[in-house]
Amino acid sequence: MNILTVCLGNICRSPLAEGILRSKIEAHRLDWQVDSAGTSRYHDGESPDSRSVAVAKLHGLNISKQRSRGFVVSDYDRFDLILVMDSSNYQEVISLARSAHDRDKVKLILNYSSPDQNKAVPDPYYEGGFDYVYELLDAACEAVIASHI
Ligand code: 4NP
Repeated sequence: MNILTVCLGNICRSPLAEGILRSKIEAHRLDWQVDSAGTSRYHDGESPDSRSVAVAKLHGLNISKQRSRGFVVSDYDRFDLILVMDSSNYQEVISLARSAHDRDKVKLILNYSSPDQNKAVPDPYYEGGFDYVYELLDAACEAVIASHI
């Protein structure tokens, strides 16, 4: 299984989701790949936000070596599952889908932990709340693993 996590800037939420998923994939000894991307290129090539790096570190994860990149259409070929953080990410990613097969790969990540509720992972860039975002993503990533093993 190849999984891509997606947010707007690829510096706050999706890098955290990538780091959490990678750690759980390793813990479960799964042969899965994970990466992340943003629907914007505002932060292309940048490290994750220092507040995401800090909350990850608090939980024993090092996400500092990740680099921000934009979502590209070929991600639909590379990944089996594309996990977005909110409805805006969903619309942006779906707008690039070439087929129903592409569209079927895109899921709101919190629908794994809160099925059918279409909840958003709040954008912490301006408002903060990185601890809460971590907890939401940790529960969702656990459910992602459980539902695909
Ligand atoms: P993210 O957070 O989508 O979780 O990476 C944001 C990062 C940067 C911006 C917005 C959201 N920005 O407007 O620069």
